[in-house]
Amino acid sequence: MQNTTGKLKAILENGNIPDHVAVIMDGNGRWARKQGLNRVNGHFEGVNSARDTIESCVDLGIRYLTLYVFSKENWNRPEFEVNMLMSLLVETIYKEIDSLMEKNVRVYPIGEIQDLPDSAKKSLNDVVERTSSNTGMTLMLAISYSGREEIVRAVNRILRTGKKTVTEDDIREQLYNYSAPDPELLIRTGGEMRISNFLLWQCAYTELYVTEKFWPDFRKDDFMDAIADFQKRERRFGKTSEQIKGENIV
Ligand code: IPE
Ligand code: IPE
Ligand code: MG
Repeated sequence: MQNTTGKLKAILENGNIPDHVAVIMDGNGRWARKQGLNRVNGHFEGVNSARDTIESCVDLGIRYLTLYVFSKENWNRPEFEVNMLMSLLVETIYKEIDSLMEKNVRVYPIGEIQDLPDSAKKSLNDVVERTSSNTGMTLMLAISYSGREEIVRAVNRILRTGKKTVTEDDIREQLYNYSAPDPELLIRTGGEMRISNFLLWQCAYTELYVTEKFWPDFRKDDFMDAIADFQKRERRFGKTSEQIKGENIV
């Protein structure tokens, strides 16, 4: 059994490192309940997993990481939990800002940010501004995010220009972050086999990795396992395996 550093080394040696990894950080509530704690304790502990994941991506030279922080549908949770998540977001941003600077990470929020409480909007503005000239990894935080809404928003923005028909490129250009490539890998913790309205356009050909581990238990070693698993995949994009391997079989 390799340790985390060994796994990291092997991944780097393989060399097939994704440019963009997206993560559905799920299972905080179940993690807390399992230990007889309130759900919110799972969110507190989940921050450590987010920090580990950011560090792992930086170590591997991954250019883009998108974390699903809060979905549009999550507004329907009990008010106490929503308020707690919003204050945790603000607190975490200010706690982590120096370490994000040290890691040369640029923060870029995606989602309906205008729907957030003022304190959350301000903290996001602050971290975006502080990190805007960082040149390392781009950390996209999906907050009040809905994949369907992102597509509808894109189409409406195109219609406003007077266009009568739209192309894939038109839509792509109007997504929240046009400059980011599609994720090659989507990780979901907590075992659910669903996409929960996340990056619907961008994940058309993304490799999926689902682990039963709850998000607060998902640490560097687990992230390395996910990347190592990705490296074993054959991405065919509709072609045959023989074509991908360059074999001449008719
Ligand atoms: C994910 O964990 C965090 C958010 C959705 C904000 P959950 O809170 O959904 O945890 P489970 O799925 O209930 O265990
Ligand atoms: C998805 O998790 C959203 C985030 C991780 C932020 P949910 O827990 O909200 O997903 P569903 O509702 O179980 O699909
Ligand atoms: Mg959940």
